[in-house]
Amino acid sequence: MNALTRDLKMLTKKVEDQTMQDDCFRQKLHLMPPTGWLNDPNGLCQFQGVYHAFFQYSPFDANGGLKMWGHYTSTDMIEWKYEGVSLYPDQPFDCHGVYSGSALVDNGKMYLYYTGNVKLEDGEYDYINSGREANTILVVSEDGMEFGAKKELMRNEDYPSDLSCHVRDPKVWKQDGMYYMVQGARTRQDEGKVLVFESTDKMNWKFRNSLTGKSRFGYMWECPDYFEVEGMKLLSASVQGLEGGEWEDRNVYQSGYFPIKGDILNEYNLQEYCLWDYGFDYYAPQSFETEDGRRIHISWMGMPDCEDYTNKTLKDGWQHCFTFPREIHVKDGKVVQQPVRELESRKKLIESAEERLEKDGYETYELNVDGIQDNKFRAVLAGELILEYQNRRFEMRFINQDKESVSAGRGLRYQEVDSLRNVKILADISSVEVFVNDGELVFSTRYYPDKYTVLAEAAGAQIRMMEIK
Ligand code: FRU
Repeated sequence: MNALTRDLKMLTKKVEDQTMQDDCFRQKLHLMPPTGWLNDPNGLCQFQGVYHAFFQYSPFDANGGLKMWGHYTSTDMIEWKYEGVSLYPDQPFDCHGVYSGSALVDNGKMYLYYTGNVKLEDGEYDYINSGREANTILVVSEDGMEFGAKKELMRNEDYPSDLSCHVRDPKVWKQDGMYYMVQGARTRQDEGKVLVFESTDKMNWKFRNSLTGKSRFGYMWECPDYFEVEGMKLLSASVQGLEGGEWEDRNVYQSGYFPIKGDILNEYNLQEYCLWDYGFDYYAPQSFETEDGRRIHISWMGMPDCEDYTNKTLKDGWQHCFTFPREIHVKDGKVVQQPVRELESRKKLIESAEERLEKDGYETYELNVDGIQDNKFRAVLAGELILEYQNRRFEMRFINQDKESVSAGRGLRYQEVDSLRNVKILADISSVEVFVNDGELVFSTRYYPDKYTVLAEAAGAQIRMMEIK
């Protein structure tokens, strides 16, 4: 261990010990940072039966700062145990941040790939085409708890020459005996794309293809992911720089997927981009496959560079959480998301009612509204968050947009939907995730209630509310 690692470790422990405390908005079901700031999920995997979730972590500043990889483990994706920091920014090739990356489980070992971020100083740099290094680094672990020496695999000069300095977030997988990696990128012409690399040994990588749409779609694609689920091929990307038209009513950056026709190594065609989530707080998701073959998706429930709204946890020295893990499936040709089935055993029925249900005092619950007639549905949470179908669209909106209110500044998000069949609401202490029509659409938001109340009304529907223990 070098002296920098030693001191970062000591300082992190110190600030965690000082600030690890209960405060009113800490979640029950959602993974949060012990203190400070959390962003992207990294290195998600199931390894020797145990789930591992690493996260972009800035323990020293709840507004974000120097990034390292915090580490949680779980046996059920509900209860998470904090394991400390696994990767510190302690080498010349990652000294400005251990940025995002992924895990590959292979040959009984865990391989972590990430971007070592470096910002050069003492120069006239724009930090887009100059002044920044994006190094691809590998770390191997035998047991998922102790991590070996960092090995630098690629530097900017190893990426195609049309790219700016912005190349990052390697996601690695194995298919038919070969290893593949996608990385997010921004070209010198400010176009977002995904790079595909191939390897036979997990160490030496050859560039194979770049993936992009027929016309320019944003200036940067971050945190790419590629997977096949029930016969569909999906390329996921978190896109920056979408402006005008429909994007004006949406978040500052987007996370979505392109269904792909063809082959990512040769001829391919990206289909229409669909958002993973239409709510206020969702960015940089990552997927992994469980040992029993399910595709799980976890996202940062937050939004970078967002001035319009904030989080009331800042006063307690922490910010952000992950979404509750979701299973991805395909139903009637559409990608659908549902909370992982592990939640089932935690649910206890509070009440089942027809057409109208009203309850006070429950903080963490699931509410299922099934068999909705005539698209008539409305729910009000904490007196301020309205979920409603109107004008052929599903809306999530807060009555009050004041930063001191339940919304902490959030306003309205919506998406067109032809008809409404069912709605599932997963509410935790300071978050709400809404699954519409079996999870064809999802809306996620943080919220900060002073009183926990819910009222749901839906024509002809069966409404069931379950407490989550
Ligand atoms: C996405 C992102 C990644 C980067 C990381 C740094 O939120 O910008 O592209 O690796 O966050 O924390």
